[in-house]
Amino acid sequence: MEQSLAGEARHLIASVRALLAELAEEGVDRIEPEAASPETTAESVAAAPGDGGQLGLIGGELLWGEKPTLDEVRAALGDCTRCRLSGGRTRIVFGDGNPDADLMFIGEGPGAEEDRRGLPFVGRAGDLLTQMIEKGLGIPRSSVYICNIVKCRPPDNRTPLADEVAACRPFLDGQISAVRPRVIVALGKPSTSLLLGRDIAITRVRGTWHEYRGVPVMPTFHPAYILRQYTPQNRRLVWDDLKAALDRSRA
Ligand code: URA
Repeated sequence: MEQSLAGEARHLIASVRALLAELAEEGVDRIEPEAASPETTAESVAAAPGDGGQLGLIGGELLWGEKPTLDEVRAALGDCTRCRLSGGRTRIVFGDGNPDADLMFIGEGPGAEEDRRGLPFVGRAGDLLTQMIEKGLGIPRSSVYICNIVKCRPPDNRTPLADEVAACRPFLDGQISAVRPRVIVALGKPSTSLLLGRDIAITRVRGTWHEYRGVPVMPTFHPAYILRQYTPQNRRLVWDDLKAALDRSRA
């Protein structure tokens, strides 16, 4: 547990450093302090039951050890009913691909085809993502890891709400801790906003490097956006972003 807390603390410090650097770049020179949360105290740290020491709870949030396995994270998710999205799903769409991937792609949430098959990015946008990975980058889809910020399909493919994203976030964090990718590609605004910790404009931040829990993050356009705006310029921009991500994952 001590080791897992040390790991979490290191991730947290790296994320805070990256955020402060970004805010400074944007001209923010002052942050108003918030009142401390009474729940997040040393006394609130407790081991979760039946998890072989991989999980802890701090202030009611799940904490993962240095390297949980994807199976452990999936088991902790269980037959989830933590948010309203569970009521409309056919299947939980956890993730797909190489558990030791250097590159991890994080999208928004399952669509109809993903919900039906229980796999991420297997509909039209998924076909384009697969093409970008296989034909564009020249690597098999099975060599990367792919998941979403929410694991159940939002109704009518709407953007997931903040409380739905918050309920699923510990499991995304667990997936990142399990895979330990060298680079994360954030697909579109919702996943980029989550990883960067603020509401972003994807046109502004795509193609620039950021960090989440110590992992370099490259935001790019979502493949569904590229399908709607299938211009040579947009395809070029995504290609540039993916190539930069692949190169850094191999550096
Ligand atoms: N399919 C997914 O799995 N995620 C998305 O964000 C879009 C389509």
